[in-house]
Amino acid sequence: MFPVDTIRADFPILKRTINGKPLVYFDNAATSQTPQVVIDAIVDYYTNYNANIHRGVHTLSQEATDKYEEARIKIQHHFNAKHAYEMLFTAGTTHSINLVASGFSSLLTKGDEIIVSALEHHSNIVPWQLVCEKTGAILRVIPMDEDGSLRMDVYNKILTQKTKLVFCNHVSNALGTINPIKEIIHKAHKFGAAVLIDGAQACPHIKPDVQDLDVDFYVASAHKICGPTGVGILYGKEEWLQKLPPYQGGGEMIETVTFEKTTYAGLPHKFEAGTPNICDGIAFGVALDYMNAIGFENIAAYENDLLAYGTQKLQEIAGVRIYGSVAKTAVISFTIEGIHPYDIGVILDKLGVAVRTGHHCAQPIMAFYKIPGTVRASFAFYNTKEEIDIFIEAVKKAKMMLS
Ligand code: ALA
Repeated sequence: MFPVDTIRADFPILKRTINGKPLVYFDNAATSQTPQVVIDAIVDYYTNYNANIHRGVHTLSQEATDKYEEARIKIQHHFNAKHAYEMLFTAGTTHSINLVASGFSSLLTKGDEIIVSALEHHSNIVPWQLVCEKTGAILRVIPMDEDGSLRMDVYNKILTQKTKLVFCNHVSNALGTINPIKEIIHKAHKFGAAVLIDGAQACPHIKPDVQDLDVDFYVASAHKICGPTGVGILYGKEEWLQKLPPYQGGGEMIETVTFEKTTYAGLPHKFEAGTPNICDGIAFGVALDYMNAIGFENIAAYENDLLAYGTQKLQEIAGVRIYGSVAKTAVISFTIEGIHPYDIGVILDKLGVAVRTGHHCAQPIMAFYKIPGTVRASFAFYNTKEEIDIFIEAVKKAKMMLS
């Protein structure tokens, strides 16, 4: 049996009340909650060994450097990267994507093509539009289907020798769709195109193996995987990281500097200018340890059960429409006929239930369904069926008040 009661005790915030009601936190796709062990790691850093890394001969600096590099190795093992130096620390998924996009603007030329999917978050669309504006490259889109899946038949047609990069999320943030990334990567490679996968929404539920996927770039954020905000990763195959130019200039990313010429440091430091987010990088490693101890297979099985239960209960309410019916993570994106999603969200909050409402930074998906937005309930492994029952009653109440 999944030890959800023991797990819940690890998360101090779950004891909170909101508007006098017990918190039901179903906004996990926006950010996950933080277990005590991660909070302790942050306090331990600032209490005991706060120092800059890779720079000092003194003990504190050595300790902080060791812990930071240990975290990189933990992250390497988690994603099964071949080398620790292929795992770059960034400020999060958006930063990781922009780093790759910026690098590709010096590799692409007029007429080259980039393919993105229709299921992307804005952070996966806008950087590529900027690259296209700069280089004259052309953006192509894999359209979506009514069930929330990607039109792979169209992907097969738009993929050509001109395609230089394919960009797709592993899991859609708005619908939870799990995309066929292995197939996407395999097909792109036949045309010599690189593939960047956004794993921000997948990593809380799935443990990706970047070597098995044979992916060129894979990006994710710590704050959706029980870690802190402001830190994320960019996995890049060594050959690609060697090819891309540095993203930012500054300290730490150089080998030698003169006013005539600067030479750059090796990987990963070439892409890690300035003092990094040391404490949160270390805490990210602790968060992965925590989740791996529970086990991602156990997490996925438990969450799938929550998803099935929540979907069935919600479907019993007249006027509810759920978006996306293909294989997905524990996300239910829905509307109630005649009621604005925002209004439902406000009433749910009054009843202690936290969900996200709106377009979820994925306006093309909302345009496809011709709706202004949805209510998105996203579950984590520390949620329960009892909480789903509270949520369902709250939705019924909101519907009654707003109809
Ligand atoms: N990308 C995050 C979400 O989907 C913030 O809510």
